[in-house]
Amino acid sequence: MTRPHVLLPAPMLDSVETAMSSRFVVHHLRRQADPDAYVAAIGSGVRALAVSGAAGRIDASWFDRLPALEIVANFGVGYDAIDVAEATRRGIVVTNTPGVLNEEVADLTVGLLLATVRRIPQADRFVREGCWSTRSFPLSPTLRGRRVGILGLGAIGRAVARRLEAFDVPISYHGRSRQDVRYEYRPSAMALAEACDVLLVLVPGGVATTGLVDEAVLAALGTCGILINVSRGSTVDQTALVAALQRGTIAAAGLDVFADEPHVPPELCAMGNVVLLPHIGSATDQTRDAMGRLVVNNLASWFAGNGPVSPVC
Ligand code: 8YV
Repeated sequence: MTRPHVLLPAPMLDSVETAMSSRFVVHHLRRQADPDAYVAAIGSGVRALAVSGAAGRIDASWFDRLPALEIVANFGVGYDAIDVAEATRRGIVVTNTPGVLNEEVADLTVGLLLATVRRIPQADRFVREGCWSTRSFPLSPTLRGRRVGILGLGAIGRAVARRLEAFDVPISYHGRSRQDVRYEYRPSAMALAEACDVLLVLVPGGVATTGLVDEAVLAALGTCGILINVSRGSTVDQTALVAALQRGTIAAAGLDVFADEPHVPPELCAMGNVVLLPHIGSATDQTRDAMGRLVVNNLASWFAGNGPVSPVC
């Protein structure tokens, strides 16, 4: 039997590429001198796309060039970079990697929250730069007495909330619907921001959530407020966020995601009241391996005629 052809617009983990190579004919687009000419040459035989955030937008411009495409396997739980409606219209299946990264991202979220409130990276720089011998590190704000709002109580949001229960902070949330949980439901992002001092953004990216945290929501969070975003850069109006931090509309921010990754506004890099991470929510060996296995399993199951393991819809 001829092995299915899989196109990788951008490199993936070595372990994923190795696992794929043993089952499929894998085309590495970034290794080609002329990627467009390469797609024109091999596109008609490609039955699968395996993509990560680095692949950019996956939409009709790809589907038009890959007439035999059957499946797009996404390395990641968020699939906002994929035009799922257009894929579905063309009968192309889209899969993602749910379930395997929730706890990892929740760990990172809590770590980023503590790092931001207690200024842990700033304190680390203080020690490394030799400042400790001449003065004490300035006192930081505290998590004590803060009300935490979770914007998006999905699987990751609930994993974060479970951890925060141990911190003895009141938790409320807003999401598409009220859930059978012990946390207080707020009817809008604005209502949530008004009712909390720490806003954790955990909603999926996409049209429905673009700019959900805007100038007004940041103002409602208040001058002692702390924003933590580990979802997508698109969910927060980044220009409004920079202005809010500069003006003291909110106190601080911890960001793992940005509007135009890997580009981070120099204004943010210059601020002492922000903690900036390079989109590492799920980035551990163990979790990335699990995500990679699920990508490969989705493709293998599909090509074995057993359907996708984790389709997005
Ligand atoms: C990864 C993520 O960074 O799962 C997601 O949606 O954002 C992260 O786990 C991303 O998938 C890497 O491409």
